[in-house]
Amino acid sequence: TQAPVNVTVTGAAGQIGYALLFRIASGQLLGQDVPVKLRLLEIPQAVKAAEGTAMELEDGAFPLLAGTDIFDDPKQAFEGTNIALLVGARPRSKGMERGDLLEANGGIFKPQGEAINAGAADDIKVLVVGNPANTNALIARSHAPDVPADRFTAMTRLDHNRALAQLSKKLGVPVTELKKLAIWGNHSATQYPSVQHAEVSGKSVDVDQAWLENDFIPTVAKRGAAIIEARGLSSAASAASAAIDHVFTWVNGTPAGDWTSAAVASDGSYGVPEGLISSFPVTAENGQYKIVQGLEIDDFSRARIDASVAELVEERDTVQKLGLI
Ligand code: NAI
Repeated sequence: TQAPVNVTVTGAAGQIGYALLFRIASGQLLGQDVPVKLRLLEIPQAVKAAEGTAMELEDGAFPLLAGTDIFDDPKQAFEGTNIALLVGARPRSKGMERGDLLEANGGIFKPQGEAINAGAADDIKVLVVGNPANTNALIARSHAPDVPADRFTAMTRLDHNRALAQLSKKLGVPVTELKKLAIWGNHSATQYPSVQHAEVSGKSVDVDQAWLENDFIPTVAKRGAAIIEARGLSSAASAASAAIDHVFTWVNGTPAGDWTSAAVASDGSYGVPEGLISSFPVTAENGQYKIVQGLEIDDFSRARIDASVAELVEERDTVQKLGLI
């Protein structure tokens, strides 16, 4: 039998953590034949709540769950870890400027990057969920110089899934008939959900530009706010589900003839500055995400991609000035 894969989850006592951990324990993160060992990282005040979740995990009697350990020290939490899901982050509080938010998150993602660099397994894969996800991933990566840059990713799979759902409703087809949607840029309101290369049942998608600009794009980009408005809490189960999808695809690959979306280190493709963690259409093969190359980009898409990438450049410049990268 296979040795358990070590999965570290930060922010384990939070709402995404609560939805995510049970899906990992049930085998949905990696596959039905892969045992997992959970390593939960929380801040000291939330360790007790994480212990409660760990009791419930135990009560699930999951055949694939080889154990759960709880830590409040990143050095220990990332020791020997194969998959790191960085969910815990500092939310924006009232009156907080963007610079303050980035600085507060630097205080979390810098030590976590260092701990990953020092102790994680050689095959470490990192998914940052905690916002601002792209730039938090950039901060963590810059403090893990010994880890290949392509192991640090940020989550835009929720945006991708939201785009699939909206387009499926509009066209009246199941999501399984849709291929080659893409999220470009930042996981923020500037993101660009693109149908330029999308296919429905093997044919190109034909929707009017007004619907794209006035309905589809804003609905996908502002869905997080709409969920908060309706639920009184931010998206959690859908975010957890997307995190499961992101890692499962990374490890098990994308189907032939399709791609997905993930924020990965740019190789300079499509005019996105090299090293920036930006969302692209990606395929996965042999445990590696690769940016889909050679797509033609129309003028509308170009302007939208550039606007979102400009925001990422601004965030990068801010954290650079703050000495966080
Ligand atoms: P939450 O507030 O319920 O939980 C966050 C948890 O992180 C708390 O238990 C907190 O104690 C913990 N935490 C804070 N600092 C930590 C540290 N240094 N180390 C370990 N744990 C720490 O938040 P929720 O709803 O679970 O969301 C988590 C993050 O995910 C937020 O930043 C949210 O904005 C983001 N998010 C990202 C999405 C995406 O698509 N990329 C979608 C939805 C949420």
